[in-house]
Amino acid sequence: MSSRQLSPILVAALIACSGSATTPTPTPTATVASVVVTPTSLTLVPGQGGTLTATPKDAAGATVSGKTVTWSGDAGSVATVSASGVVTAVGAGSANISATVDNKSGTVAVTVTEGGYIGTAGGTITAMSGAVTLVIPSGAIGSSTVFGVEAASGTPANSRLLGGTTFTITPSTAFSQDATLRLRYGSGPGAGVVVPQLRIARLVGTTWTELAVVGVDQTARLVNGAVTAGGTYGVFLPPPSLRGYAQQRSFKIGAAVDPTRWATDAQYAAILGAEFNSVVAENVMKWDVLHPQQASYNFAPGDQFIDLAVAQGMEARGHVLLWHSQLPTWLTAGSWTRTTLLAVLKSHIETVVARYRGKITSWDVANEVLADDGSGVRPTIWTTTIGPDAIDSAFAWARRTDPDAKLYLNDYAIEGPGAKTDALMALVTRLQTAGIPIDGVGFQAHLTMTPPSRAQFDGVLALIAAKNLDSRYTELDVRVPDASPASALDQQATIYGTVISACLAQARCRGVTTWGITDKLSWIPSVFAGFGRALPFDLNYAPKPAYTTLLALLGAGLSP
Ligand code: XIL
Repeated sequence: MSSRQLSPILVAALIACSGSATTPTPTPTATVASVVVTPTSLTLVPGQGGTLTATPKDAAGATVSGKTVTWSGDAGSVATVSASGVVTAVGAGSANISATVDNKSGTVAVTVTEGGYIGTAGGTITAMSGAVTLVIPSGAIGSSTVFGVEAASGTPANSRLLGGTTFTITPSTAFSQDATLRLRYGSGPGAGVVVPQLRIARLVGTTWTELAVVGVDQTARLVNGAVTAGGTYGVFLPPPSLRGYAQQRSFKIGAAVDPTRWATDAQYAAILGAEFNSVVAENVMKWDVLHPQQASYNFAPGDQFIDLAVAQGMEARGHVLLWHSQLPTWLTAGSWTRTTLLAVLKSHIETVVARYRGKITSWDVANEVLADDGSGVRPTIWTTTIGPDAIDSAFAWARRTDPDAKLYLNDYAIEGPGAKTDALMALVTRLQTAGIPIDGVGFQAHLTMTPPSRAQFDGVLALIAAKNLDSRYTELDVRVPDASPASALDQQATIYGTVISACLAQARCRGVTTWGITDKLSWIPSVFAGFGRALPFDLNYAPKPAYTTLLALLGAGLSP
Protein backbone atom coordinates (compact mmCIF):
# COMPACT_ATOMS: atom_id res chain seq x y z
CA MET A 1 0.00 0.00 0.00
CA SER A 2 1.35 3.42 -0.88
CA SER A 3 0.88 6.49 1.30
CA ARG A 4 -1.25 8.05 -1.42
CA GLN A 5 -3.90 5.49 -0.55
CA LEU A 6 -3.95 6.26 3.24
CA SER A 7 -6.75 8.39 4.58
CA PRO A 8 -5.71 11.79 6.08
CA ILE A 9 -7.06 10.65 9.48
CA LEU A 10 -4.89 7.55 9.52
CA VAL A 11 -1.82 9.53 8.56
CA ALA A 12 -2.43 11.99 11.43
CA ALA A 13 -2.83 9.13 13.88
CA LEU A 14 0.40 7.49 12.71
CA ILE A 15 2.37 10.71 13.15
CA ALA A 16 0.98 11.29 16.66
CA CYS A 17 1.73 7.73 17.61
CA SER A 18 5.35 7.80 16.39
CA GLY A 19 5.92 11.13 18.18
CA SER A 20 4.78 9.89 21.53
CA ALA A 21 6.94 6.80 21.19
CA THR A 22 10.29 8.73 20.95
CA THR A 23 9.78 11.99 22.89
CA PRO A 24 9.24 11.94 26.68
CA THR A 25 6.39 14.10 27.83
CA PRO A 26 7.84 17.47 28.99
CA THR A 27 7.39 18.19 32.66
CA PRO A 28 8.09 21.94 32.81
CA THR A 29 6.65 22.37 36.26
CA ALA A 30 8.55 19.50 37.91
CA THR A 31 10.77 20.39 40.84
CA VAL A 32 14.46 20.61 40.04
CA ALA A 33 16.44 18.44 42.44
CA SER A 34 19.88 18.80 40.84
CA VAL A 35 21.69 20.32 37.89
CA VAL A 36 24.15 18.16 35.99
CA VAL A 37 26.86 20.09 34.18
CA THR A 38 29.00 18.53 31.52
CA PRO A 39 31.89 18.20 31.05
CA THR A 40 32.63 17.61 34.73
CA SER A 41 35.85 19.62 34.57
CA LEU A 42 37.54 21.90 32.10
CA THR A 43 41.23 22.56 31.55
CA LEU A 44 42.21 25.39 29.24
CA VAL A 45 45.08 27.69 28.47
CA PRO A 46 44.58 31.44 28.16
CA GLY A 47 42.74 32.44 25.04
CA GLN A 48 40.93 29.19 24.68
CA GLY A 49 37.22 28.57 25.08
CA GLY A 50 34.98 25.69 26.07
CA THR A 51 31.25 25.08 26.15
CA LEU A 52 29.40 23.82 29.23
CA THR A 53 25.97 22.18 29.09
CA ALA A 54 23.59 22.18 32.09
CA THR A 55 20.76 19.66 32.48
CA PRO A 56 18.20 20.07 35.28
CA LYS A 57 17.06 16.76 36.84
CA ASP A 58 14.12 15.92 39.10
CA ALA A 59 14.36 13.75 42.21
CA ALA A 60 14.01 10.62 40.13
CA GLY A 61 16.86 11.66 37.84
CA ALA A 62 14.64 12.52 34.90
CA THR A 63 15.46 15.57 32.82
CA VAL A 64 13.38 18.62 33.56
CA SER A 65 12.92 20.76 30.48
CA GLY A 66 11.63 24.22 29.91
CA LYS A 67 13.77 25.77 32.64
CA THR A 68 16.10 28.71 32.33
CA VAL A 69 19.76 28.13 33.30
CA THR A 70 21.76 30.94 34.85
CA TRP A 71 25.56 30.74 34.64
CA SER A 72 27.82 32.27 37.22
CA GLY A 73 31.29 31.75 38.56
CA ASP A 74 34.02 32.88 40.88
CA ALA A 75 36.27 32.77 37.88
CA GLY A 76 37.27 36.43 38.02
CA SER A 77 40.42 36.83 36.01
CA VAL A 78 40.64 33.10 35.30
CA ALA A 79 37.71 32.63 32.95
CA THR A 80 34.43 34.20 31.89
CA VAL A 81 31.19 32.41 31.13
CA SER A 82 28.45 33.60 28.78
CA ALA A 83 24.69 33.27 29.18
CA SER A 84 24.77 30.16 27.02
CA GLY A 85 27.57 28.44 28.95
CA VAL A 86 30.51 29.34 26.74
CA VAL A 87 33.67 29.63 28.83
CA THR A 88 36.62 31.77 27.79
CA ALA A 89 39.88 31.26 29.59
CA VAL A 90 41.58 34.51 30.55
CA GLY A 91 44.47 33.90 32.89
CA ALA A 92 46.14 31.14 34.84
CA GLY A 93 44.39 29.78 37.96
CA SER A 94 41.45 27.70 39.16
CA ALA A 95 37.83 28.67 39.43
CA ASN A 96 34.36 27.19 39.74
CA ILE A 97 31.60 27.83 37.28
CA SER A 98 28.04 27.06 38.32
CA ALA A 99 24.81 26.55 36.45
CA THR A 100 21.75 27.40 38.59
CA VAL A 101 18.10 26.42 38.03
CA ASP A 102 15.45 27.06 40.70
CA ASN A 103 18.09 27.48 43.43
CA LYS A 104 19.73 24.19 42.57
CA SER A 105 23.14 24.26 40.99
CA GLY A 106 25.83 22.16 39.49
CA THR A 107 29.45 23.25 39.55
CA VAL A 108 32.39 22.59 37.28
CA ALA A 109 36.03 23.18 38.20
CA VAL A 110 37.86 25.15 35.55
CA THR A 111 41.63 25.19 35.47
CA VAL A 112 43.47 27.62 33.29
CA THR A 113 47.11 26.76 32.96
CA GLU A 114 49.56 29.28 31.56
CA GLY A 115 51.57 27.73 28.83
CA GLY A 116 51.81 27.40 25.16
CA TYR A 117 49.18 26.48 22.72
CA ILE A 118 49.06 25.05 19.32
CA GLY A 119 46.15 26.09 17.28
CA THR A 120 44.99 27.86 14.22
CA ALA A 121 45.65 31.42 13.37
CA GLY A 122 41.94 31.97 12.92
CA GLY A 123 39.23 31.14 10.51
CA THR A 124 37.13 28.06 10.34
CA ILE A 125 38.68 24.76 11.17
CA THR A 126 37.57 22.10 8.74
CA ALA A 127 38.48 18.49 8.46
CA MET A 128 41.98 17.14 8.42
CA SER A 129 42.18 13.44 8.72
CA GLY A 130 44.31 11.82 11.34
CA ALA A 131 45.87 12.99 14.51
CA VAL A 132 48.62 15.53 14.67
CA THR A 133 51.45 14.43 16.90
CA LEU A 134 53.89 16.96 18.20
CA VAL A 135 57.23 15.71 19.32
CA ILE A 136 58.80 18.04 21.81
CA PRO A 137 62.52 17.65 22.33
CA SER A 138 63.14 16.55 25.87
CA GLY A 139 64.45 19.33 28.01
CA ALA A 140 63.23 21.97 25.61
CA ILE A 141 60.05 22.58 27.48
CA GLY A 142 59.37 22.26 31.16
CA SER A 143 57.17 19.54 32.53
CA SER A 144 54.36 21.88 33.43
CA THR A 145 54.08 23.49 30.03
CA VAL A 146 50.62 22.92 28.66
CA PHE A 147 49.56 22.97 25.07
CA GLY A 148 46.15 22.85 23.54
CA VAL A 149 44.41 23.17 20.27
CA GLU A 150 42.89 26.53 19.89
CA ALA A 151 39.86 26.86 17.70
CA ALA A 152 38.90 30.24 16.43
CA SER A 153 35.31 29.25 16.95
CA GLY A 154 33.65 26.18 18.31
CA THR A 155 34.85 23.86 20.99
CA PRO A 156 38.57 23.39 21.39
CA ALA A 157 40.00 19.98 21.96
CA ASN A 158 42.46 20.27 24.77
CA SER A 159 45.54 18.28 25.30
CA ARG A 160 48.25 18.60 27.77
CA LEU A 161 51.84 17.57 27.94
CA LEU A 162 53.05 16.58 31.35
CA GLY A 163 56.68 15.78 31.39
CA GLY A 164 56.62 13.75 28.23
CA THR A 165 58.30 14.43 24.98
CA THR A 166 55.42 13.55 22.71
CA PHE A 167 52.17 15.37 22.47
CA THR A 168 49.32 14.12 20.36
CA ILE A 169 46.44 16.25 19.32
CA THR A 170 43.53 14.11 18.27
CA PRO A 171 41.31 16.83 17.05
CA SER A 172 37.62 16.48 17.69
CA THR A 173 37.68 19.76 15.91
CA ALA A 174 40.18 18.89 13.23
CA PHE A 175 42.77 21.05 11.58
CA SER A 176 42.11 22.48 8.19
CA GLN A 177 44.50 21.56 5.43
CA ASP A 178 46.04 25.00 5.53
CA ALA A 179 45.82 25.68 9.21
CA THR A 180 48.65 27.37 10.98
CA LEU A 181 50.42 25.48 13.68
CA ARG A 182 51.24 27.87 16.45
CA LEU A 183 53.39 27.34 19.43
CA ARG A 184 53.42 29.76 22.26
CA TYR A 185 55.44 29.64 25.39
CA GLY A 186 53.97 31.04 28.51
CA SER A 187 55.68 31.72 31.77
CA GLY A 188 57.31 28.96 33.72
CA PRO A 189 59.74 26.40 32.43
CA GLY A 190 60.69 26.95 28.84
CA ALA A 191 60.10 30.68 29.12
CA GLY A 192 63.77 31.35 28.52
CA VAL A 193 63.54 30.03 25.00
CA VAL A 194 64.14 32.62 22.33
CA VAL A 195 61.19 32.15 20.03
CA PRO A 196 62.92 32.70 16.69
CA GLN A 197 65.13 29.76 17.58
CA LEU A 198 62.15 27.43 17.50
CA ARG A 199 61.51 25.37 14.42
CA ILE A 200 58.50 23.31 13.47
CA ALA A 201 58.98 20.28 11.28
CA ARG A 202 56.87 17.45 9.93
CA LEU A 203 57.94 13.84 9.97
CA VAL A 204 57.81 12.53 6.41
CA GLY A 205 58.76 8.87 6.47
CA THR A 206 61.76 8.92 8.75
CA THR A 207 62.88 12.43 7.85
CA TRP A 208 62.03 15.63 9.62
CA THR A 209 61.16 18.30 7.08
CA GLU A 210 61.22 21.81 8.41
CA LEU A 211 58.06 23.80 7.88
CA ALA A 212 58.27 27.27 6.50
CA VAL A 213 57.95 29.54 9.48
CA VAL A 214 55.15 31.83 8.43
CA GLY A 215 55.38 34.20 11.30
CA VAL A 216 57.32 34.90 14.43
CA ASP A 217 56.09 37.26 17.09
CA GLN A 218 58.81 37.84 19.64
CA THR A 219 56.53 39.77 21.99
CA ALA A 220 53.74 37.21 22.01
CA ARG A 221 56.37 34.48 21.87
CA LEU A 222 54.72 32.80 18.93
CA VAL A 223 56.19 30.84 16.09
CA ASN A 224 53.86 29.82 13.31
CA GLY A 225 54.37 27.07 10.79
CA ALA A 226 52.08 26.19 7.91
CA VAL A 227 50.43 22.80 8.37
CA THR A 228 49.55 21.22 5.08
CA ALA A 229 48.58 17.70 6.13
CA GLY A 230 47.84 15.51 9.08
CA GLY A 231 50.82 13.74 10.52
CA THR A 232 53.53 14.04 13.07
CA TYR A 233 55.00 17.42 13.75
CA GLY A 234 58.00 18.27 15.81
CA VAL A 235 59.10 21.37 17.63
CA PHE A 236 62.83 21.81 17.55
CA LEU A 237 65.32 23.98 19.22
CA PRO A 238 68.55 24.49 17.36
CA PRO A 239 71.74 23.80 19.30
CA PRO A 240 72.86 26.57 21.61
CA SER A 241 74.41 29.37 19.58
CA LEU A 242 76.36 32.57 20.02
CA ARG A 243 73.42 34.37 18.47
CA GLY A 244 70.84 32.80 20.78
CA TYR A 245 72.82 33.75 23.85
CA ALA A 246 73.68 37.22 22.54
CA GLN A 247 69.98 37.89 21.93
CA GLN A 248 69.18 37.03 25.51
CA ARG A 249 71.81 39.52 26.69
CA SER A 250 70.98 42.29 24.19
CA PHE A 251 74.61 41.86 23.16
CA LYS A 252 75.97 42.02 19.61
CA ILE A 253 78.06 39.19 18.31
CA GLY A 254 79.17 40.12 14.84
CA ALA A 255 81.23 39.09 11.85
CA ALA A 256 82.76 40.91 8.91
CA VAL A 257 81.21 39.52 5.74
CA ASP A 258 81.48 39.38 2.00
CA PRO A 259 77.92 39.65 0.61
CA THR A 260 78.73 37.67 -2.55
CA ARG A 261 79.97 34.80 -0.43
CA TRP A 262 76.92 35.15 1.81
CA ALA A 263 74.59 34.86 -1.16
CA THR A 264 76.33 31.89 -2.76
CA ASP A 265 78.02 29.80 -0.05
CA ALA A 266 75.31 27.92 1.86
CA GLN A 267 77.64 26.74 4.60
CA TYR A 268 78.90 30.26 5.20
CA ALA A 269 75.34 31.59 5.24
CA ALA A 270 74.22 28.89 7.64
CA ILE A 271 76.95 29.67 10.18
CA LEU A 272 76.35 33.37 9.85
CA GLY A 273 72.60 33.04 10.33
CA ALA A 274 72.86 30.67 13.25
CA GLU A 275 75.68 32.30 15.16
CA PHE A 276 75.71 36.05 14.55
CA ASN A 277 73.25 38.89 15.11
CA SER A 278 75.46 41.64 13.71
CA VAL A 279 77.40 42.05 10.49
CA VAL A 280 79.78 44.53 8.95
CA ALA A 281 80.94 44.63 5.34
CA GLU A 282 84.56 43.50 5.18
CA ASN A 283 85.18 45.53 2.02
CA VAL A 284 82.11 46.61 0.07
CA MET A 285 81.44 49.84 1.92
CA LYS A 286 84.96 51.13 1.47
CA TRP A 287 85.66 54.01 -0.92
CA ASP A 288 87.26 51.93 -3.66
CA VAL A 289 84.19 49.72 -4.02
CA LEU A 290 81.49 52.26 -3.24
CA HIS A 291 82.87 55.27 -5.09
CA PRO A 292 84.95 54.03 -8.06
CA GLN A 293 84.63 57.26 -10.05
CA GLN A 294 84.29 60.73 -8.65
CA ALA A 295 80.97 61.16 -10.41
CA SER A 296 79.50 57.72 -9.78
CA TYR A 297 78.78 55.33 -6.96
CA ASN A 298 78.54 51.56 -7.01
CA PHE A 299 75.96 50.76 -4.40
CA ALA A 300 75.02 47.28 -5.57
CA PRO A 301 77.32 45.25 -3.26
CA GLY A 302 76.55 47.48 -0.27
CA ASP A 303 72.84 47.21 -0.96
CA GLN A 304 73.16 43.43 -1.19
CA PHE A 305 74.93 43.40 2.17
CA ILE A 306 72.16 45.48 3.75
CA ASP A 307 69.40 43.37 2.18
CA LEU A 308 70.91 40.15 3.48
CA ALA A 309 71.33 41.60 6.96
CA VAL A 310 67.72 42.78 7.00
CA ALA A 311 66.47 39.41 5.74
CA GLN A 312 68.37 37.66 8.51
CA GLY A 313 67.25 40.04 11.23
CA MET A 314 70.76 41.20 11.90
CA GLU A 315 72.19 44.51 12.89
CA ALA A 316 74.37 46.05 10.15
CA ARG A 317 77.40 48.17 11.04
CA GLY A 318 78.95 50.60 8.56
CA HIS A 319 82.64 50.48 7.70
CA VAL A 320 84.09 52.98 6.76
CA LEU A 321 83.79 56.74 6.03
CA LEU A 322 87.19 58.32 6.63
CA TRP A 323 90.18 56.06 6.05
CA HIS A 324 93.45 56.29 4.17
CA SER A 325 93.38 52.76 2.69
CA GLN A 326 91.38 51.20 -0.14
CA LEU A 327 90.76 54.56 -1.75
CA PRO A 328 89.94 54.86 -5.48
CA THR A 329 92.70 56.04 -7.82
CA TRP A 330 90.82 59.15 -8.89
CA LEU A 331 91.12 60.23 -5.28
CA THR A 332 94.69 59.19 -4.50
CA ALA A 333 96.02 60.42 -7.83
CA GLY A 334 94.08 63.66 -7.82
CA SER A 335 95.47 67.00 -6.83
CA TRP A 336 93.45 68.56 -4.10
CA THR A 337 93.29 71.63 -1.97
CA ARG A 338 91.83 71.70 1.51
CA THR A 339 88.64 73.14 0.06
CA THR A 340 88.22 70.70 -2.83
CA LEU A 341 89.07 67.65 -0.73
CA LEU A 342 86.69 68.74 2.02
CA ALA A 343 83.97 69.00 -0.61
CA VAL A 344 84.76 65.47 -1.83
CA LEU A 345 84.68 64.07 1.70
CA LYS A 346 81.44 65.87 2.54
CA SER A 347 79.72 64.71 -0.58
CA HIS A 348 80.80 61.10 -0.05
CA ILE A 349 79.75 60.96 3.59
CA GLU A 350 76.41 62.63 2.94
CA THR A 351 75.64 60.39 -0.03
CA VAL A 352 76.63 57.11 1.62
CA VAL A 353 75.18 57.79 5.06
CA ALA A 354 71.91 58.97 3.51
CA ARG A 355 71.75 55.89 1.31
CA TYR A 356 71.86 53.61 4.34
CA ARG A 357 70.09 55.85 6.83
CA GLY A 358 67.96 53.79 9.19
CA LYS A 359 69.70 50.59 8.11
CA ILE A 360 73.14 51.06 9.61
CA THR A 361 73.07 51.16 13.41
CA SER A 362 76.62 52.39 13.83
CA TRP A 363 79.32 53.75 11.55
CA ASP A 364 83.07 53.51 11.82
CA VAL A 365 83.37 57.18 10.92
CA ALA A 366 87.10 57.56 11.31
CA ASN A 367 89.36 54.55 10.92
CA GLU A 368 93.00 54.26 11.87
CA VAL A 369 93.50 58.00 12.23
CA LEU A 370 96.02 57.59 15.05
CA ALA A 371 99.75 57.38 14.34
CA ASP A 372 101.35 54.11 15.42
CA ASP A 373 104.03 55.83 17.52
CA GLY A 374 101.51 57.61 19.71
CA SER A 375 102.48 61.01 18.34
CA GLY A 376 98.89 61.96 17.58
CA VAL A 377 96.91 62.00 14.36
CA ARG A 378 98.35 59.92 11.51
CA PRO A 379 99.44 61.92 8.45
CA THR A 380 97.22 60.81 5.55
CA ILE A 381 95.76 62.36 2.44
CA TRP A 382 92.89 63.56 4.62
CA THR A 383 94.77 64.86 7.61
CA THR A 384 97.53 66.54 5.68
CA THR A 385 95.54 68.05 2.80
CA ILE A 386 92.57 69.03 4.94
CA GLY A 387 94.10 68.94 8.41
CA PRO A 388 93.23 66.98 11.57
CA ASP A 389 89.82 68.62 11.55
CA ALA A 390 88.88 66.31 8.64
CA ILE A 391 87.99 63.96 11.51
CA ASP A 392 85.77 66.56 13.16
CA SER A 393 83.97 67.26 9.91
CA ALA A 394 83.42 63.59 9.14
CA PHE A 395 81.64 63.06 12.47
CA ALA A 396 79.58 66.22 12.10
CA TRP A 397 78.41 65.37 8.58
CA ALA A 398 77.58 61.80 9.54
CA ARG A 399 75.52 62.93 12.53
CA ARG A 400 73.66 65.51 10.48
CA THR A 401 72.84 62.93 7.79
CA ASP A 402 71.72 60.13 10.09
CA PRO A 403 71.08 61.38 13.62
CA ASP A 404 70.19 57.87 14.85
CA ALA A 405 73.39 56.09 13.83
CA LYS A 406 76.03 55.67 16.53
CA LEU A 407 79.33 57.21 15.41
CA TYR A 408 82.60 55.44 16.22
CA LEU A 409 86.28 56.20 16.14
CA ASN A 410 87.91 52.89 15.17
CA ASP A 411 91.56 51.88 15.45
CA TYR A 412 94.01 49.09 16.21
CA ALA A 413 96.64 48.60 18.90
CA ILE A 414 94.63 50.64 21.39
CA GLU A 415 93.13 47.68 23.28
CA GLY A 416 95.64 47.94 26.10
CA PRO A 417 97.62 50.80 27.63
CA GLY A 418 100.39 52.56 25.71
CA ALA A 419 101.36 55.70 23.86
CA LYS A 420 98.82 55.10 21.08
CA THR A 421 96.06 54.64 23.63
CA ASP A 422 97.12 57.87 25.31
CA ALA A 423 96.86 59.57 21.91
CA LEU A 424 93.39 58.04 21.49
CA MET A 425 92.25 59.50 24.79
CA ALA A 426 93.73 62.88 23.87
CA LEU A 427 91.87 62.84 20.54
CA VAL A 428 88.61 61.79 22.20
CA THR A 429 88.99 64.59 24.72
CA ARG A 430 89.72 67.12 22.00
CA LEU A 431 86.69 66.02 19.94
CA GLN A 432 84.36 66.05 22.93
CA THR A 433 85.61 69.45 24.06
CA ALA A 434 84.94 70.76 20.57
CA GLY A 435 81.38 69.39 20.71
CA ILE A 436 82.00 66.84 17.98
CA PRO A 437 79.32 64.11 17.97
CA ILE A 438 81.19 60.89 18.82
CA ASP A 439 79.35 57.98 20.44
CA GLY A 440 81.92 55.26 20.77
CA VAL A 441 85.37 53.81 20.29
CA GLY A 442 85.93 50.65 18.26
CA PHE A 443 88.86 48.45 19.16
CA GLN A 444 89.87 46.51 16.08
CA ALA A 445 91.60 43.88 18.21
CA HIS A 446 93.71 42.22 15.53
CA LEU A 447 95.54 40.40 18.28
CA THR A 448 98.64 38.26 18.48
CA MET A 449 99.25 35.39 20.90
CA THR A 450 100.65 37.93 23.38
CA PRO A 451 97.74 40.34 23.80
CA PRO A 452 97.06 42.78 26.63
CA SER A 453 95.97 41.19 29.92
CA ARG A 454 92.38 41.07 31.08
CA ALA A 455 93.09 43.85 33.55
CA GLN A 456 94.54 45.95 30.72
CA PHE A 457 91.49 45.38 28.50
CA ASP A 458 89.28 46.29 31.46
CA GLY A 459 91.31 49.41 32.15
CA VAL A 460 90.99 50.80 28.64
CA LEU A 461 87.28 49.96 28.43
CA ALA A 462 86.82 51.83 31.71
CA LEU A 463 88.64 54.88 30.32
CA ILE A 464 86.21 54.96 27.39
CA ALA A 465 83.18 54.47 29.64
CA ALA A 466 84.43 57.31 31.82
CA LYS A 467 84.22 59.52 28.73
CA ASN A 468 80.54 58.55 28.53
CA LEU A 469 81.23 56.63 25.31
CA ASP A 470 80.23 53.18 24.11
CA SER A 471 82.88 50.67 23.08
CA ARG A 472 83.04 47.59 20.90
CA TYR A 473 85.60 45.10 19.71
CA THR A 474 85.10 45.60 16.00
CA GLU A 475 87.57 43.41 14.09
CA LEU A 476 88.64 40.69 16.49
CA ASP A 477 90.99 37.98 15.29
CA VAL A 478 93.92 36.26 16.98
CA ARG A 479 96.66 35.23 14.57
CA VAL A 480 98.56 32.06 15.27
CA PRO A 481 102.08 31.39 13.91
CA ASP A 482 101.79 28.69 11.25
CA ALA A 483 104.45 26.56 12.94
CA SER A 484 102.51 26.33 16.22
CA PRO A 485 101.22 23.00 17.52
CA ALA A 486 97.50 22.30 17.74
CA SER A 487 97.58 23.29 21.42
CA ALA A 488 98.04 26.88 20.27
CA LEU A 489 94.36 26.84 19.38
CA ASP A 490 93.53 26.40 23.06
CA GLN A 491 95.71 29.36 23.90
CA GLN A 492 93.94 31.29 21.14
CA ALA A 493 90.59 30.28 22.66
CA THR A 494 91.66 31.72 25.99
CA ILE A 495 92.46 35.04 24.30
CA TYR A 496 89.05 35.11 22.59
CA GLY A 497 87.57 34.38 26.00
CA THR A 498 89.44 37.23 27.63
CA VAL A 499 88.14 39.70 25.06
CA ILE A 500 84.50 38.68 25.29
CA SER A 501 84.65 38.48 29.09
CA ALA A 502 86.06 41.99 29.27
CA CYS A 503 83.31 43.25 27.00
CA LEU A 504 80.55 41.42 28.88
CA ALA A 505 81.85 42.85 32.15
CA GLN A 506 81.73 46.46 30.91
CA ALA A 507 78.21 47.83 30.58
CA ARG A 508 79.23 50.29 27.84
CA CYS A 509 80.83 47.58 25.69
CA ARG A 510 78.14 46.78 23.14
CA GLY A 511 79.53 43.80 21.31
CA VAL A 512 82.27 41.81 19.72
CA THR A 513 82.72 41.44 15.96
CA THR A 514 85.18 38.96 14.50
CA TRP A 515 86.95 39.93 11.29
CA GLY A 516 85.48 37.12 9.23
CA ILE A 517 84.10 33.74 10.19
CA THR A 518 86.39 31.04 8.86
CA ASP A 519 90.16 30.71 8.55
CA LYS A 520 89.58 29.85 4.91
CA LEU A 521 88.61 33.42 4.10
CA SER A 522 90.58 35.38 6.70
CA TRP A 523 92.64 38.40 5.59
CA ILE A 524 95.46 37.42 7.98
CA PRO A 525 97.61 35.05 5.83
CA SER A 526 97.79 37.56 2.98
CA VAL A 527 98.96 40.38 5.21
CA PHE A 528 100.91 38.70 8.04
CA ALA A 529 103.17 36.16 6.39
CA GLY A 530 103.61 33.07 8.52
CA PHE A 531 100.41 33.59 10.48
CA GLY A 532 96.89 32.22 10.11
CA ARG A 533 94.14 30.30 11.86
CA ALA A 534 92.94 33.56 13.36
CA LEU A 535 89.17 33.03 13.46
CA PRO A 536 86.72 30.86 15.48
CA PHE A 537 85.92 28.53 12.55
CA ASP A 538 88.61 26.53 10.77
CA LEU A 539 89.51 26.08 7.08
CA ASN A 540 86.61 23.63 6.72
CA TYR A 541 84.19 25.86 8.65
CA ALA A 542 84.28 23.60 11.72
CA PRO A 543 84.13 25.32 15.10
CA LYS A 544 87.46 25.66 16.88
CA PRO A 545 88.22 25.91 20.60
CA ALA A 546 87.80 29.67 20.25
CA TYR A 547 84.18 29.12 19.26
CA THR A 548 83.57 26.78 22.19
CA THR A 549 85.01 29.30 24.60
CA LEU A 550 82.94 32.16 23.18
CA LEU A 551 79.81 30.02 23.44
CA ALA A 552 80.51 29.01 27.02
CA LEU A 553 81.21 32.55 28.19
CA LEU A 554 78.33 34.14 26.30
CA GLY A 555 75.98 31.44 27.55
CA ALA A 556 77.13 31.38 31.16
CA GLY A 557 74.06 31.51 33.38
CA LEU A 558 71.60 31.45 30.49
CA SER A 559 69.30 28.68 29.32
CA PRO A 560 70.09 27.37 25.84
C1 XIL B 1 90.91 44.28 5.31
C2 XIL B 1 90.12 43.22 4.62
O1 XIL B 1 89.85 42.20 5.53
C3 XIL B 1 90.81 42.68 3.42
O2 XIL B 1 89.98 41.81 2.69
C4 XIL B 1 91.27 43.82 2.52
O3 XIL B 1 92.03 43.31 1.46
C5 XIL B 1 92.06 44.80 3.30
O4 XIL B 1 91.32 45.27 4.41
N1 XIL B 1 91.58 47.17 9.45
C6 XIL B 1 90.39 47.53 8.87
C7 XIL B 1 89.79 46.66 7.86
O5 XIL B 1 89.78 48.53 9.28
O6 XIL B 1 89.02 47.37 6.94
C8 XIL B 1 90.80 45.80 7.16
O7 XIL B 1 90.14 44.89 6.31
C9 XIL B 1 91.66 45.09 8.17
C10 XIL B 1 92.38 46.06 9.05
